[in-house]
Amino acid sequence: MDFDEIKRMEKVFYSNTFTRLPVALERGEGMYLYDFDGNRYLDMFAGIAVNCLGHGHPAVLEALEKQSRKLLHVSNWFYTLPQLELAKLLVEITGMEKAFLTNSGSEAVEAAIKLVRARTGRKEIIAMENAFHGRTLGALSLTWEEKYREPFQPLVPGMRFARYDDIDSLKNKINKNTAAVILEPVLGEAGVIIPGENYLRAVRDLTYDKSVLLIVDEVQTGFGRTGELFAFQKSGIKPDILCLAKGLGSGFPVGAMLSSGIDFKPGEHGGTFIGNPLACEVAKTVVETIIKNKLHVNAREVGSYLKKKLEGKGFDVRGEGLMIGVETEDGRSRVLELIRKGVLTIHSGNTVRVLPPLIIEKKHADEFLTRF
Ligand SMILES: Cc1ncc(COP(=O)(O)O)c(C=O)c1O
Repeated sequence: MDFDEIKRMEKVFYSNTFTRLPVALERGEGMYLYDFDGNRYLDMFAGIAVNCLGHGHPAVLEALEKQSRKLLHVSNWFYTLPQLELAKLLVEITGMEKAFLTNSGSEAVEAAIKLVRARTGRKEIIAMENAFHGRTLGALSLTWEEKYREPFQPLVPGMRFARYDDIDSLKNKINKNTAAVILEPVLGEAGVIIPGENYLRAVRDLTYDKSVLLIVDEVQTGFGRTGELFAFQKSGIKPDILCLAKGLGSGFPVGAMLSSGIDFKPGEHGGTFIGNPLACEVAKTVVETIIKNKLHVNAREVGSYLKKKLEGKGFDVRGEGLMIGVETEDGRSRVLELIRKGVLTIHSGNTVRVLPPLIIEKKHADEFLTRF
């Protein structure tokens, strides 16, 4: 397939919304992606922190094949086992009480917004400056970036922002109408911003003290990305709500909102496709594979190797596990240059984001380092 023809089709038929990088990908295998001319690229972004098992993982293919022969979808009018098995697994590994499944990260955040409003009777939620929680109207109302928000005003009322990693700023924003605080353990879309070691603990203590719920958005940090199975576990806290997606399906669209101490009442929320058997069987397999192969430990080890080597080359680097941001003079030019060298990354402004599949080995890290 000719790349010019692909670009033409996109221009003519697809909504104008994406600023794409100049590669059309046809297939993938493990840590590598291939374009239509057969050129090979090292995948160092995993579809924005999604494909944690890389491409074409045999366990995922087997789950897809087996489950698709049995059942794709029946809706939530009926019981299906993969949905309940996935819920049980997520509850067990997070220490939360209940799981509500979704099709995306934004939907997990939407569910969280509805749940905290319904159960507390309060309407306000405090998010963080520079946070990203999604593009649907509720999640967008908790997202900081002006250019994402501006054309769609008025957004959901009652959303406020505190400074990230600043407990006094948060303390000043909480009032009697505050239902919840939402935060990412590491700011992802903002360019990998890591808060101080005690920040999450301090937020948890403050929210307990003020009887305000805590929503931890681990859509990007979850499932081993930061070197822990979940980033919140490192600080020893327990959120009231946990939002998950991205890595959960390793490329299959699926998300989850987990809660403790609060739950929806019958009829309060739903969705035709949520928790469908195919998504759930794949997600269950992905999570089991991460745990069985200790891929979060691999993320910690290869991540710290990458970080150390990049620092050794004189780069300004931030990172936890395989969620790494490297400061450059011009993020887009660097990403384009890497494409020419056969490496795929993404960028937030001038921060090149390194988010490879969790199956990465040291030899892939070295390949990346040589080309960076
Ligand atoms: C922390 C966080 N929350 C929510 C979302 C939204 O997820 P989705 O794009 O699956 O709707 C993202 C996506 O980047 C994210 O990074």
